[in-house]
Amino acid sequence: MSGEQRRRPLISANWKMHLNHFEAIQQVQKLSYLVSTEELESVDVSIHPPFVDIRSVQTVLESDGIGFALGAQNCHPEASGAFTGEVSTQMLAKLHVHYVIVGHSERRTLFGESDDFVAAKVRAVHAAGMTPIICVGETLDEREADATEARVARQLEAALDGSSPDAIAGFVVAYEPIWAIGTGRVASADDAQAVCHHLRAVVEEIAGSSAAASIRIQYGGSVKADNAAELMARPDIDGALVGGASLDADTFAPIVNFRSAAG
Ligand code: PGA
Repeated sequence: MSGEQRRRPLISANWKMHLNHFEAIQQVQKLSYLVSTEELESVDVSIHPPFVDIRSVQTVLESDGIGFALGAQNCHPEASGAFTGEVSTQMLAKLHVHYVIVGHSERRTLFGESDDFVAAKVRAVHAAGMTPIICVGETLDEREADATEARVARQLEAALDGSSPDAIAGFVVAYEPIWAIGTGRVASADDAQAVCHHLRAVVEEIAGSSAAASIRIQYGGSVKADNAAELMARPDIDGALVGGASLDADTFAPIVNFRSAAG
């Protein structure tokens, strides 16, 4: 199920609360010079700027014909309403956003997002014609207690609640061990592969073998140019969700170009 048919890798830049709209335009243009069009024939790239940058990034991508997909870092599940400070999936879709990160561990821990809320966002993103990138991951305590697989399975099952097998087939999951995010500590390629393989088995149980074979599973957590190729070579790892190293095109481009970096 895992190794035979390779899925197209997706390398995503999660800028978090960094880069204003001027800086965003500069970074996207710089990245477009550093990533060749041939590279983009076999790798998908998505850029997830802060909400206030999205319109500017959309304009530069479309007017310059740059082949990166536009992404968002979050959304609200309702179409509209009295939700001060929130942004709906319809609003994002109107800006040609393609991928929306849902359930990032920072949103779960700092902003108290529940599994049910994450699942509602997943369904809303799909209903608006976009693709969710569903984040799951364990704490260091959970890893040390050998509870990683149970933890991420529960998160994924909850996030997929109410989504059809056909929809799930097109989703993206990001396995992001919380202890590896922004810490410089990266999961070993073997450990990351084992968890991603387990997540694929969870998808198979929920949505069947064809959804499991096509869903893409990224690894995230201190991905850098020097570890990207090794991670991406593993059969169940279909890309990377990159935070810190995505903020500068000089450090992000070699991750996108991981095949040439691997020689
Ligand atoms: P990092 O962040 O690459 O800085 O560890 C990854 C993420 O939080 O998505």
